[in-house]
Amino acid sequence: MNVITNIEDLRVLARQRVPRIFYDYVDVGSWSESTYRANEKDFQSLPLRQRVAVNLEARSTASDMIGQAVSMPVALAPTGLAGMLHADGEILAARAARSFGVPFTLSTVSICSIEDVAKHAGEGFWFQVYVMRDRDFIERLIERAKAARCSALVLTLDLQIQGQRHKDLKNGLTAPPRLTVPNLIDMLKKPRWCFGMAGTRRRQFGNIVGHVKGVENMRSLSEWTAQQFDPSLSWADVTWIKKRWGGKLILKGIQDAEDARLAVESGADALIVSNHGGRQLDGALSSIAALPAIVSEVGSEIEVHLDGGIRSGQDVLKALALGARGTYIGRSYLYGLGAMGEAGVTKALELIQKELDLTMAFCGKTRVNQVDRSIFAFQPFQSYLAH
Ligand code: GLV
Repeated sequence: MNVITNIEDLRVLARQRVPRIFYDYVDVGSWSESTYRANEKDFQSLPLRQRVAVNLEARSTASDMIGQAVSMPVALAPTGLAGMLHADGEILAARAARSFGVPFTLSTVSICSIEDVAKHAGEGFWFQVYVMRDRDFIERLIERAKAARCSALVLTLDLQIQGQRHKDLKNGLTAPPRLTVPNLIDMLKKPRWCFGMAGTRRRQFGNIVGHVKGVENMRSLSEWTAQQFDPSLSWADVTWIKKRWGGKLILKGIQDAEDARLAVESGADALIVSNHGGRQLDGALSSIAALPAIVSEVGSEIEVHLDGGIRSGQDVLKALALGARGTYIGRSYLYGLGAMGEAGVTKALELIQKELDLTMAFCGKTRVNQVDRSIFAFQPFQSYLAH
């Protein structure tokens, strides 16, 4: 096998090893995928400013997110169905994150249950919730997250309704997967994946199946989403969840300075500038382009994080320079997971840390807290600041 030197190598390997229906679920955006593409492209368009003859000894990528120490400011994002990319996927990713010293965020729609993952996760074990119609289910989920000693709750605000994703519709994505002839043939061509799946009992939504009535019979993920996710979600729900949880709260899915202001008023500890990986409102600004206006509005009052489009440590650096305190990777670690399980997630983290360290150094910085807009050759997104 060729040497893995970047996230793209992991993506290519994951594509070979993961059944198409699940690979596509990761590598998809909504409608024309323009925001999905912009998330990556806009990072690449930011020009860095090289400095020389700066003492580059004793460098460190260590920092903190919501007061928790991290070996680099990169958390694993909540991603649905990670346990379908590789058997026991969420457990493996949580273990890799723990060894690396970065937070792991478990999705509500994970395959491994919160209780199973808790046995393997480190101190940075965060749990993501959606507001669903069944408020009893949410209450129980929050209690389960407390019992599992999760150190932050990530509340997703941008998936009350679901963006249309053409590939998923065409593939007939279901969980468990519907064994149509094309899906079956494709799975049989991925023997490594089949052996892994045959060897685990975790093949359903572990947080949901057996915990909520009717979900045993769900047909498609989209249909289930349409039934369970609450289109009436409001800021009052955020207040209600904050009260029930009582711990660190991170609001995910903020794109706009006015919503960022409301996030501050809700009393949350952090917000994540996110367009859901380009999977919801196609045509929205890329995450990195949306970041400056939000930092300018609320950056001194709440911790601002960012996800969307991070495929290298250079992207992490650019997000930090524009005011993010922390970042998240979703696809970048899922490609590693699909390619090589736990070792692949570790590889993704190593690659990103090395790219962050070296790029920071080339820009003349030795610590994350020195990184600011001075790393850019010219100031990007100036016209995006005013609304
Ligand atoms: C769920 O969060 C998804 O984007 O599919």
